[in-house]
Amino acid sequence: MRKKQYYLNYEGFDMIHEILSLVEKHEEWRGKQCLNLIPSENVMSPAVRGLLSSELGHRYTARDRFYMGTRFIDEIEQYGEETAKEVFRAETADLRPLSGHIADLIFLASFAKPNDIVMCVSPEGGGYPGLWKNGLAGLFSLKTMPFPFSKHNMNIKVEEAKEAIRQIKPKIMIFGASLITFPHPVKELAEVARENGAYVGFDGSHVMGLIAGEQFQDPLREGVHALFGSTHKTFFGPQGGIILADKEHGEVMKAKIFPTFVDNAHWNRIAALTLALAEMKNFGKAYAKQIVRNSKTLAKALRDYGFPVVCQHLGFTQSHQVLLEYGGYKQGRVIAEKLQLTNVIVDCGVRIGTCEVTRRGMKEEEMLKIAELIKRTVVDGEQPEEIKKDVAKLCAEYQKVEYCFKK
Ligand SMILES: Cc1ncc(COP(=O)(O)O)c(C=O)c1O
Repeated sequence: MRKKQYYLNYEGFDMIHEILSLVEKHEEWRGKQCLNLIPSENVMSPAVRGLLSSELGHRYTARDRFYMGTRFIDEIEQYGEETAKEVFRAETADLRPLSGHIADLIFLASFAKPNDIVMCVSPEGGGYPGLWKNGLAGLFSLKTMPFPFSKHNMNIKVEEAKEAIRQIKPKIMIFGASLITFPHPVKELAEVARENGAYVGFDGSHVMGLIAGEQFQDPLREGVHALFGSTHKTFFGPQGGIILADKEHGEVMKAKIFPTFVDNAHWNRIAALTLALAEMKNFGKAYAKQIVRNSKTLAKALRDYGFPVVCQHLGFTQSHQVLLEYGGYKQGRVIAEKLQLTNVIVDCGVRIGTCEVTRRGMKEEEMLKIAELIKRTVVDGEQPEEIKKDVAKLCAEYQKVEYCFKK
C-alpha cells in the first residue's frame, strides 16, 4: 500500500488519511498480530494479491465481443478456464461467479423450477443457510427437504437418505455444507438421485482447495453434475466463485451466467484467480495434505485438554475444520469473544480452521502451540495480555505465504 506521505499534497488529505489509517490498522491487527483460524478465510500469495490491483480492474469484456480492447483479458480468462479444468478434471469451468453464493444461485436458477424440492444439509446439521427458505430456496419458491443427518457422525445417513430420495424424488440435490469435517456420501447417493430425476450438485465452497489437492473427495467423479462454490476458503484465491461441471450441464449454466447473473466478472479477480489456480496445480497436493494433518493434530491436542471436539470416534476431522460443540452460537460466542481478547480469531460455531495457518507454513508442531494458547485462554483463564504476546510471537514467525511460486 502507498505510504500516507505520498498523499501529503492531495486535496482531501484528511479523508485519505482517515481511510488509509483504518486500512493500516486492520492490516497490522488481522494481518500481523492475529492468529486467523476462521475456516472460510485464507491468504493469497503476494503475486495473486498484486493482480487484484492490476489495470484489468478498470476494464470490461463480454462474450458477445461488444467491447474493444479486450484481447489480453480474454486470453487470461481462457487460460484460467483451461487451468481450472485441469486442476479439477472437469469438462467445463467458469470463473465468472462473483462468490460462492452466486455460484449456488446459478446452479439453482439453471435447473430448478418453482415448487421443486431441493434436498441438502439443513442449517441445524451445518448446511449453508443461504440455500434454505430465507435464502435462495425462498427466492426461487423451492421446497426444502433436509438430508437425514447424523450429528454424531457429522454426516448424511446413507440408507435413510436413499429411502427418502426414492420416496420424495427431489428435483435438486446439493451436497456440501458450511460445517464439513468428512466427505459426503456422493458415491452412494448421486446415482440413486439421478435415477430418480435429480440434478445433483456439490457446494464445495469450504473444501474446494482440498478437492483441488485431491485430499477430500472427488465429487465430479462420484456422480455430481456440477461442483461449485467459493475460491477463497481452502482454495487460496481471491474472494469469488467458480463452477466446474460436465459438458452438458456446464453449457446450460454458461448460457445463464451472462446476461442473467454476472455481467462484469471483475477481470482483475479473474487474473488473480488464474494465478491461484496455477499455484494450486503445482502446490495443491502438498498444501491440502498438510491441512488435514494439521487439523487432526490440533483436534487431538484440544481433545486432550478436555475441549468438546466432535467426532473423536472418526478421527475428529478429514478437512480444514475442527468443530467444538458448545451447544449453539450463543455459547460459542462466549468462547470466540474470549479468544478474540488474545487475538486468536475463530467464529461462533465454534469452527476452528487450519487453512490460513497452513498456508502461512505452520505444521504439526505449531498446531500443538495453538492448542496450548487456546487452552490457556479458555481453560486456565490466564490474563489475555500475556497470551497475546505469545500469539504475536508465533504470528511474527509465520508472516510468509507458502505453497506458491517464489522469486
Ligand atoms: C457451504 C457454503 N456455500 C456458500 C457460501 C457462500 O460463499 P461466499 O461467501 O463465497 O458467497 C458459504 C459461506 O461461507 C458456505 O459455507
